[in-house]
Formats: sequence, C-alpha cells, structure tokens
Amino acid sequence: MKNRNLIKKEYHTKIKELKEHNQHYYEKSSPKISDSTYDDLKKEITELEKKYSFLKSKSSPSLIVGAKPSKNFLKSKHRIRMLSLSNAFSYEDLKNFEKKISNFLNLKNNSIIEYSVEPKIDGISASLTYKNNNFILGLSRGDGAEGEIITENLKTIKDIPKIIKNKNFPKDIDIRGEVYIGKEDFEKIKDRFANPRNAASGSLRQKDPVETKKIPLRFIAYTYGFNSKINFKKQSEFLNLLKNWGFNTNDHNQVISGIDKLVSNHKELENKRHDLDFDVDGLVYKINDLGLQKRLGYVANAPRWAIAHKFSADSSYSKILNIDIQIGRTGALTPVAKIKPVNIGGVVVSNATLHNEEEIIRKDIRIGDIVKVERAGDVIPHVLSVDLKKRTIESKKFIFPQVCPSCGSKVVKDFNKISKKYDAVKRCSSEGYKCEKIAIEKIKHFVSKEAFNIEGLGKKVVEKFWELKFIKLPFDIFDLNYKKIEKLEGWGELSANNLKKSIEKSKNIGLDKFIFSLGIRHIGQENARLLSQHFLNIKNFNNLAKNFNFKTLANLDGIGETQINSLKNFFSDQINLNVVKKLISILNIRSVSQNTKGKLINKTFMFTGKLSNISRAEAKSLTEENSGKILSNVSKKLDYLVMGDKPTTKKIKQAKELNIKVIGQAEWKKLLN
Ligand code: IVH
Repeated sequence: MKNRNLIKKEYHTKIKELKEHNQHYYEKSSPKISDSTYDDLKKEITELEKKYSFLKSKSSPSLIVGAKPSKNFLKSKHRIRMLSLSNAFSYEDLKNFEKKISNFLNLKNNSIIEYSVEPKIDGISASLTYKNNNFILGLSRGDGAEGEIITENLKTIKDIPKIIKNKNFPKDIDIRGEVYIGKEDFEKIKDRFANPRNAASGSLRQKDPVETKKIPLRFIAYTYGFNSKINFKKQSEFLNLLKNWGFNTNDHNQVISGIDKLVSNHKELENKRHDLDFDVDGLVYKINDLGLQKRLGYVANAPRWAIAHKFSADSSYSKILNIDIQIGRTGALTPVAKIKPVNIGGVVVSNATLHNEEEIIRKDIRIGDIVKVERAGDVIPHVLSVDLKKRTIESKKFIFPQVCPSCGSKVVKDFNKISKKYDAVKRCSSEGYKCEKIAIEKIKHFVSKEAFNIEGLGKKVVEKFWELKFIKLPFDIFDLNYKKIEKLEGWGELSANNLKKSIEKSKNIGLDKFIFSLGIRHIGQENARLLSQHFLNIKNFNNLAKNFNFKTLANLDGIGETQINSLKNFFSDQINLNVVKKLISILNIRSVSQNTKGKLINKTFMFTGKLSNISRAEAKSLTEENSGKILSNVSKKLDYLVMGDKPTTKKIKQAKELNIKVIGQAEWKKLLN
C-alpha cells in the first residue's frame, strides 16, 4: 500500500486543481479544460475517496456541486418575454419615474399612485409553467426571449410546488420568481463561489439534478408570464394568491403610495438589510393596478410601470497602482484606476472607473493616491474622493493622452447642440474597425446576448481569437477554422463543435437584432427596433447604403438628427459597407413580421396639439399597438394628422396643402374602434 501521506498529497493536489478549474468556470466564465477532462478529474477524486476512507475535503465533489454547469441545455421560447428593470438611486430618480408615469397616463397632478413594494433579491430568475395544476416546464431567463430548460433542476427545490390543488389556480400559467441561496446556507459552501448569486446560478445549471439537490436552493415567487385566467386587479392581490397556492412570497412585501413613504421604507429596509437571510440589492416598485400596468406597457427591455430602487453603495479605501485608458466600442476613452485589491461589501474590487478626463481634473486624481472607492450592486465601482492628507510630495498630476493609445488617431470631443457644450468624454476619432481596441469591442458587442447571442463566444474568447488573428471583422466569425480551435488549450473537439453549433444557429437572425449588432453609434436596441419596423426587410435597410438617401428617416418618430448623422457616418465608411455586404451574403436575416392584425395597418399618423384625457405618448403607443405607424413630420407619406387642442397651425396648413386628412381625436378613436 502506498504511503498514506503520498495518497493524501495526490488527493489534495487534485482537489486544488478542481478548485482552480471551478474558478475559471464559475467566476471567469472561461474554462481551461474540456468537459470530459473535468469529469475525469472529478471521478479520480471520488474514486480515491472510495478507496481510502481517511481522505476528506470540504471541496470534495461528493459533498457539493461537483459537475460543471452545462452550457448545453435545450432552449425554449418564453411565451411572454422576461424583462429587466431600470434603476433608480435617488429621490429625484423616483420623482422623475412617477412624473413620467403621470404624464403618460395623463393623471391629475394630485393623483395618488399605489405601488407594490417588494425586496429585490439578488438571485437568478426562473419561469415555471403549470398546466392543469402540474409543474411541467421550468426555464431560466436566458436572453429574455428564450431560456434554458432546467425543469429537472428546479424540481429539486423544496419551495417549488409540483402540484397545486387550489380550485382557483389557472389552468395554464407561468409563475416567475427568484431562485437564491440563503446567507446561512451559503456560509457552508463559500470557499467555492464568489457570492451567493454565483452559487445559485452554478447550481441551477448542473447537468445532473442530483448535483443541484445538494445545494439548498430556495424560491420566492413575485410575478407571472403567460396566464390563462387573470381574475385579480392588483399585483398585491396576485402576491396573496401566490401565497394561497403554496408559493413563498417575501414577508417584506408591502403596498405604499407617495415617494416620501417609499423613501422612508427604503431607508428602513436598508438598515435591516444585513440581518436578512438573503442578499437584497434594493426594492422593486411596481404600479399596483394591473390595468394601469397594461396601459403603460414597455420600452425595449424594461416595463414603464416598474423600477428598482437600489440600495446605496458600500465603500472602502485603497491605493491607485496605475491608471489605464480603456477604449470602448464607440471610441470613448475611459480612464480606469487599477487599485490594490480590496473587499467592498463582500466582493473583491481591483478596478474602479474614473469616468473621463474632466473627472480626473476635477478631483485631481493621481497614481499613488489613497482613494475612497464605492460599489453599488452590479454597477461598476468608481472612485469617490482622494485622501489628500496621504499624498506624498513626489506625486505628479496625471496627464490624459492626447491621441488614442491604441491607434494613435487624434482624440475628439463631441459638441452637444442642445446643451451647447462639449461632451466630457474624449473619443478616438477613427471610424469603424481601423482602431484595434474599438474593433475588438465592436466584435464583443456583435456576439453579445442582445445581438447575435453566440454562446461560447464570450469576451475572453473574442480577445483570444483576436490575438490569434482568427477574427478581425465580424464576418470572420462565420468562417472559423474549428480544427485549429480544437487544438487550443482548454478546448477540444466537443467544445469546438458546440461553438460551431451555436454560431450556425445564430446565422438566423431578426432584422432588429442585426441592425443593433452593427454597433452603430446612437442606435441602441430601441432605435434598432424602430429602424427595423421602418425598413421591414434587409433589402430596404441596405438600400440606405446604396442610395445614401436618409430623407425618409427624418419622418420617423424617435429617430432624430443625431441618429441620422450617425447612420450617415457609418455608411460612409468602406469597411462598414463591406462588413454589411458580406454579412448579408452569409446570414438569413428575417424580415419583420408586421403586426397586421391591427385596424390601422399601413396607415401613418401624426399628432398635434393637446389631446384630452390621454397623453401623446399613450396615443402613440395605442396607434402602434394597432399596427399604425407614427411619423414626426408632415410629408406626402402621412395619412392622418390628428388634431388636439391648440394644434400647430403650420402643420395643419402643410397637411391641407398636401391633401392629407386632418381629423380630430374622436375620429382617431373611431378608427381604433
Ligand atoms: S419583476 C417585469 N420582482 O430583478 C419586471 N423582479 O432587474 C421584472 N427581481 O430579472 C421582474 N426581485 O431577477 C421582479 N420582486 C421582484 C424581483 C425581481 C428580484 C430580479 C429578477 C429580474 C431582475 C430585473
């Protein structure tokens, strides 16, 4: 028999190795070994344990999640999209939020809005489909439109009822909520994960549900997706129903009206936050009345009727070791302080943003300074202030680069026509892919969740492939040499094949995501959606490049001069033109399936003057819901000019000259039926 110490040594080396790979996988999302090598390592450890009973480790795969989370779950579309929330940090943010809602709903100044107030647990959201009272399908959030099928893993969670007997339980419903790990339970496994959220996410994505079961996951329900029977009028009523049906809901849920009361409640919970058994990063406020929620609807990824009120930041002191200049996708030069690693509220921070040159000058931030660094939830940590008393005499002012550190192009500041001021941000002036750093960021954007959503092609992999000259321009992604990739360290046949599969799959893409993926400045998700709805198919969009005719865009409500100038810039660049052309030849870009059910199909509208009992915003959104299109200028393209109180006479005159129908609000309502 081998020497006991030697066996122990061999065992602990393997455990150490496993821990390192776990870190690469869970925390850095960049595995260094293939799935099968990982599984082998795990097996070797458990074999050793079986053979020698004296072997023990807290990190043994037999004790805690052992298998790697799989990247290859089957996927399924959410029947109703899973959205995210916009954030509020201050009283002002909340005032603005309420004002926008009031305006949209055309409420009187003194109307009281009631909110369902719910703690925002920092976990992983999941959607549970129940049909005929049985839990039949569980999905992760995924990209919001499509999630991974993790039913079996979710079934291991005690808090999730598998059968619901209540008579009033809908025949077909998606129950949504948060999967998380209690703080106390997390203590037992904390050597493996950076924070409870990572642990929950890793555990939920195990290939083998038996592994999931080993971690005490919990579930709190808070909303619904598809629902065949909505017989309640308020979110708070729904929360009560959830409880009756056997789901856990948060004990701290409340109904509150008025910003002042929201803020004092926020303070109260913030003080208690560290005593709660779950991580909370703020409170969620939802308009309690579901009828109002429906009227308010959504913008891009988030509802207009809800907001997350974040808790204030944790902070700590550390030393600035260096200042790096990072170059973003749009060329923005962002100074980032590399600080001596410091634990802030449970997370180790080694980078803090300094925002821009003006900020450095204003706060006189220098290399070597001791600074106060703040971190709030998932927001990037930033430098708050400098401790001037700790500054040494040798300290020198930081000189911001006058040219792009990546490509040497001159740096520029944009002039904002509205504020009549120069932007604080300096940008590299080179357009498109000529600047290496911008090009890499553009490719990261191209493959990101909201664009091509290519699994297995994360940021680190993009950087690696760039370095190896596998990818220079976006279309290179579709012409990768998988034989070469297979041979890279940490890859192998299986991973290369999986990457190939997800790239092939991504070739089928909607026009809105395609436009967004190009990373045209000022064309975010919402504008990309507007443009796709205007152009309907890729041919029309591409004609923009061919004819260089941007006139029709000026009519599009939501697309302004800034966006049009940016599109002009984009299509003036030869590399961009080549990229678009080549991509079109490779991809299957789906046309926009028009909502043709609405009464206002193929009709264009414009509003002028004050409408009664309804805001302009809601009138527009109702028009669009009924397949109508909103224009922002009077032109031959316009079918109806809808006139409210005190309309712009010039518009009416123009409309009459062009023989456009000028109608009143009542007539518009009739068209809508
Ligand atoms: S409602 C439609 N309610 O926050 C609004 N979300 O940033 C989105 N979350 O993905 C869902 N507690 O993971 C809602 N009481 C709560 C929540 C909550 C935590 C998370 C959830 C969601 C994210 C949105």
